[in-house]
Amino acid sequence: MYSQSPLGMVEFSDIPMKPTPQQYKNYVPADHVHEYLASYTATHIYNGKSIKDRIHLDTRVVSIQKLHSPLNGTGSSSGVRGSAWVVSTDCGQTMTCSKLMIATGITSRPYIPSFNTLDFTPPILHTKDLARLAPTFMESEGVQNVIVIGGSKSAFDAVHMFISAGKRVDWIIRDKGSERVGMGAAERAPVYYENSHQILSTRLMSKMSPCIFQPPDGWMRFFHQTKMGRWVTDTVWNTMQSAWLKAATYDRNGDMSSLRPQLPMFWCSENVGVSNSPNFWNTMSQATVHRSSIDRLENSSVVLANTTTLPCDLLVMSTGWDITFPFFTPADASSLGLPIPIAHQSLFDSKKWQTLEAAADCTILRMFPKLATPPSFDRHPMNTTQFYVYRGMASPQEARGGDNSIVFLGQVGAAQSFKIAETQSIWAAAYLTGKLRLPSVEEMEMDISLTNVWRRRRYLSAGERKPVFMHDELAYVSMLLRDLGINHRRKGGGLKELFQPYSNKDYRGILEEWREIQKEREQDEMEKKYEGSHTFSSRTAVV
Ligand SMILES: Cc1cc2nc3c(=O)[nH]c(=O)nc-3n(C[C@H](O)[C@H](O)[C@H](O)COP(=O)(O)OP(=O)(O)OC[C@H]3O[C@@H](n4cnc5c(N)ncnc54)[C@H](O)[C@@H]3O)c2cc1C
Ligand SMILES: NC(=O)c1ccc[n+]([C@@H]2O[C@H](COP(=O)([O-])OP(=O)(O)OC[C@H]3O[C@@H](n4cnc5c(N)ncnc54)[C@H](OP(=O)(O)O)[C@@H]3O)[C@@H](O)[C@H]2O)c1
Repeated sequence: MYSQSPLGMVEFSDIPMKPTPQQYKNYVPADHVHEYLASYTATHIYNGKSIKDRIHLDTRVVSIQKLHSPLNGTGSSSGVRGSAWVVSTDCGQTMTCSKLMIATGITSRPYIPSFNTLDFTPPILHTKDLARLAPTFMESEGVQNVIVIGGSKSAFDAVHMFISAGKRVDWIIRDKGSERVGMGAAERAPVYYENSHQILSTRLMSKMSPCIFQPPDGWMRFFHQTKMGRWVTDTVWNTMQSAWLKAATYDRNGDMSSLRPQLPMFWCSENVGVSNSPNFWNTMSQATVHRSSIDRLENSSVVLANTTTLPCDLLVMSTGWDITFPFFTPADASSLGLPIPIAHQSLFDSKKWQTLEAAADCTILRMFPKLATPPSFDRHPMNTTQFYVYRGMASPQEARGGDNSIVFLGQVGAAQSFKIAETQSIWAAAYLTGKLRLPSVEEMEMDISLTNVWRRRRYLSAGERKPVFMHDELAYVSMLLRDLGINHRRKGGGLKELFQPYSNKDYRGILEEWREIQKEREQDEMEKKYEGSHTFSSRTAVV
C-alpha cells in the first residue's frame, strides 16, 4: 500500500521524508511513512523527553470525565481557565489533566455494517487489518475467491492487492448511494505540473474552489460570482477531470464502466483517490464488479439483492470508518459539540442550529451561486448531529463557560494530513494556553453554521456525513495561520503565490514565527503595563 500524497507533501515541514527505492513514482510505501513517524517521535525532544517516551502504546482510553471543579493551579486564581479531565484506560490507569487534546482520528475505528447472516463461514477482514493480515490470505491456497465490499479508496487498494496475488475478486459496490471514487492519475496533469496534487496545491486552484475558509476578495467574486469567472472555473475543473478519466479508460469493459465516478470531480471529497500503485488500471480491470446491495451472507457465499450468488473464501469489508467518541458521557459529548444521536439532541440546540443554518444557507448561496445547483446524488440518512466545533477544534459551548481545557485535532478528512496536523497543533496549543484571540461565542456559532452548511452544499453526501473538504486544504491551513498571526502567503508573492504548488517545506519555521509573535506581544503588553504604571505614578505625583 502506498501513500496518496507524493514525497514533499507527506512529511512535517522541519524534516523532509527521504526517497526510497521502493517508492512508486513519488508515492511511498506505508512502512516508509511509519519509519518516518517513528524516527520523528524519537528525535523530537521537549523538556528533556522525546515524543516517543511520552506515548503509552497498546493503551485504549475507555472513559474521559470532566471534573467540574478546576484542578489546583488551573482555576481563575492562576489566570488559566478550565476544568480538569479524568482519563481512564483499559490498563486500569487513571490520569488527571488540566489540558486535553483528543486526536483519535476519523479513520481508526472500523465501520462494519451488519448484513443478514446465515451460517456464514469465511473469514471477514476489515480494511484496517489489511496490511497486517492480508499476506497470510494471499499465500493461502484455500483462498481463491475474494469478495470486497465498498466503492472507495480502501476498496481499490484491497482489490489491487488480491488481484496482484492471483486471486479472483468479486467487488460489490452498492447501487444506491455510492458515489464511487474519482481516481486521480498519479502521472498526468493537464498543464505543466507533475501531477494532480501539485495543481490542487496551488493558490489559484484553491481560489477556484468555492470555499468558506478564505476571506471574500476580488478573486472570489470573479471566479464564483461572474459568468466569465464561473466559465473559467468550470473549464479548469473539467480539463482536470478529462485527464483523470482518460488515464482510467473506464470504457475498456463493462466492469470498468461500473467504476466510472458518478459525480463530477469538482463535487468529490472523501471519494477522491490517486492511482498510486503499479499497473493500477490494468489490475482493476480484472475484477468483476457488481453494482448491487447485499441480501445475505450464507454458508460460504454472498447473495446479492439481484439473487446472484458469489462463492466466497474471504470477505473484505472496505466499508469505511465510524467517527465516534465512545469515551465521553453523552452530556459531555453534547457540550463539546461532538456528533450525538439526533434523538438525543435537546430541542433548544436543535432549534438554535436550525435557525443559524437557515441564515448561513442564504449567505453561502449568495457567495457561491453554483452550489445551489448540484448534480443529482443519493443522500444517506443521518443518524447523528453535525460537529459543532469552531475551526474543527474548539467547542463554543465550553468557551461560553470560560473553559479552554479541551481541543480536538484531526477531525478533518483531507489528502494532506501532515500540513493540517502541523498547523492545527500550533492553533490548539495557542487555544489551550489562552493565547489565541477568539471571536465571541455567537460569532463562533455563526462560523460553525456557515462551515457545516457550506460543507454539505460543497461536498454533498460526503460533506454532510463527515468533516471532509479535500479541495480546500490550502485555504483551511491559511485560515489557521491567519488566526495565529503567522504569514500565510509563503511563496514570496506575485505570480509565484498563485501558480507555484505549495508543499510542506513552505511551512518550515511556522512554530518559530509563532513563538516570535508571542514574544513581541508579551513585550508590547509589558511596555503598555509599564507606561500605565508610569502614567499612574506621575499622576499620583501631581495629586
Ligand atoms: C489507508 C489510508 C491511507 C491514507 N493515506 C494518506 C496519505 O497518503 N496522505 C495523507 O496525507 N493522508 C492519508 N490518509 C489519511 C491519514 O491517514 C489521516 O488523515 C491521518 O492518519 C490522521 O492522523 P490522526 O493522528 O488525526 O489520526 P489517526 O492516524 O487515525 O490516529 C488516531 C490514533 O488514535 C488512536 N485511538 C483511537 N481511539 C482511541 C482510544 N479510545 N484510546 C487510545 N487511542 C485511541 C488510534 O489507535 C490511532 O493510533 C490515509 C488514511 C487511510 C485510512
Ligand atoms: N492508499 C491510500 O492512500 C488510502 C487507502 C485507503 C484509504 N485512504 C483514505 O482513507 C479515507 C477513507 O477511505 P475508505 O475507503 O477507507 O472509506 P470510505 O471512503 O468511508 O468508503 C467506505 C465505502 O464503503 C461503502 N459502504 C459503507 N457501508 C456500506 C454497506 N452497508 N454496504 C455496501 N457498501 C458500504 C461506502 O459506500 P457509500 O459511498 O455508498 O457510502 C464507501 O464506498 C479516505 O480519505 C481515503 O482517501 C487512503
